[in-house]
Amino acid sequence: TLINSTNIFWQECPVGKVERQKLLNQKGCVLWITGLSGSGKSTLACSVSRELHSRGKLSYVLDGDNLRHGLNKDLGFKQEDRTENIRRVGEVAKLFADAGLICIASLISPYRKDRDACRAMLPDENFIEARFLVMVFMNMPLALCEARDTKGLYKLARAGKIKGFTGIDDPYEPPLNCEIEIQNKDGICPAPGEMAKQVVSYLEEKGFLL
Ligand code: PPS
Repeated sequence: TLINSTNIFWQECPVGKVERQKLLNQKGCVLWITGLSGSGKSTLACSVSRELHSRGKLSYVLDGDNLRHGLNKDLGFKQEDRTENIRRVGEVAKLFADAGLICIASLISPYRKDRDACRAMLPDENFIEARFLVMVFMNMPLALCEARDTKGLYKLARAGKIKGFTGIDDPYEPPLNCEIEIQNKDGICPAPGEMAKQVVSYLEEKGFLL
């Protein structure tokens, strides 16, 4: 919480979070999806967004890969860059949640301390960390993601053409405390619509959809 600027003040606006909640009929929150590359985070994020949209709820997806084309284009994949990436997205997600949206952040976010820092940034009730990790998390997770290799990146990483690739030569630290865990059953990954319904039901249960 080091602030570099001096002589800065916090400005309050009369239209606040509660007013926005009433307008939108929902409580803003952050759904944080973490998992290996190729574990299906983006698919889940989009499917949750579609399900919410069909119920008349406003959501917005912050996708790690996409944000690296703009907001985070100055960052690479060194440890300190990933930490800064997660911090920035955490701050942006916090603003979206404050705006009243259901913000779905989908990033590998491999380091526990960075995810914990994001959680600490938001009041407890407003931050949900959901790990989307195909069952392989318990059962050779990397093998499944690597076998899929939708972007061909695991192949490049194995060939030494990408250095510091998560799961290959950079660590992925699985969450110890997550609210939702999605696993594949009997080697079959649940359909995206099914996973989305599980997540949206959770939001409903917790009172985020008014
Ligand atoms: S992180 O670790 O949270 O900062 O990563 P993130 O911003 O989510 O970006 C992950 C996507 O970047 C691509 N990519 C890599 N991933 C992991 N390690 C290395 N070295 C790397 N280089 C490029 C990859 O396409 C990731 O996309 P997803 O959607 O996770 O598969």
